[in-house]
Amino acid sequence: MQDLPIGIFDSGAGGLIVLRSVAALLPHESIVYFGDTARLPYGDKSCQTIEKYSRQCVQFLLDHPVKMVVIACNTASSFTSQEWKDSLPVPVIDVLYPSAFKASTLTQNQCIGVLGTHATIRSGSYQKALHTLLPHAHILPVACPLFVPLVEEMLLDHPATHLMVQEYLKPILDAECDTVILGCTHYPLLRKAISKQLPSHVHIVDSAQCCAEAIQQQLKSTSLKSSKQQFYVTDDPGRFKKLAQTFLPSSIQLESLELIHLDN
Ligand code: DGL
Repeated sequence: MQDLPIGIFDSGAGGLIVLRSVAALLPHESIVYFGDTARLPYGDKSCQTIEKYSRQCVQFLLDHPVKMVVIACNTASSFTSQEWKDSLPVPVIDVLYPSAFKASTLTQNQCIGVLGTHATIRSGSYQKALHTLLPHAHILPVACPLFVPLVEEMLLDHPATHLMVQEYLKPILDAECDTVILGCTHYPLLRKAISKQLPSHVHIVDSAQCCAEAIQQQLKSTSLKSSKQQFYVTDDPGRFKKLAQTFLPSSIQLESLELIHLDN
């Protein structure tokens, strides 16, 4: 069991940001990455569709098999129930709780902003997780639907991006949040643009990094000798490879990338 890979699932290439953090913290772990590139984005889909797709993708990883499933997609994390996760044969870690927990330890004024896709914000998942930890916290959820396409077009430092960052952060600045959760795979790539608009005392919580730390804590297995990475996508491996250059350092190469098909 210990030698089995960790399975990471995302709607597309964004979850590579989690893979990147996991590979940095646990360099000896093998990883199977699954990106549902045929059906992304998940962020503007319905609850039922996101739940159905997520279950199919997780099943693909379980069949691989893997010793742990990581739901790197914030949107998918928001629509997979705890009961379902508990019913699976391996531990499941998602990006939600570790980020909410980190934010709860950082905030001083209990005013926390959450940036995410339409679906993540609509689900209320972060709000619920944060209120479990800090019942009196004031949460400012903001949907930022244009961030994903801006990142995928690699416009990380473009005036249009800075303008959108300014626009989306307005309610967070008005409410004087002292902590902001980047609740989407793509947003850590906009960290520079986001922190430029925020006062320097505001904490920025990177959900990918928090998730990787939670995985490290859960596994505590640093005795593995070799590591291997395998990548699967459901559409356009060429575009995935190109996007991977944005999300991954050059030390991580997509040597083994396969196109697979899931039944709809
Ligand atoms: N991976 C998604 C998330 O973290 C963003 C992209 C999408 O909408 O599918 O919410």
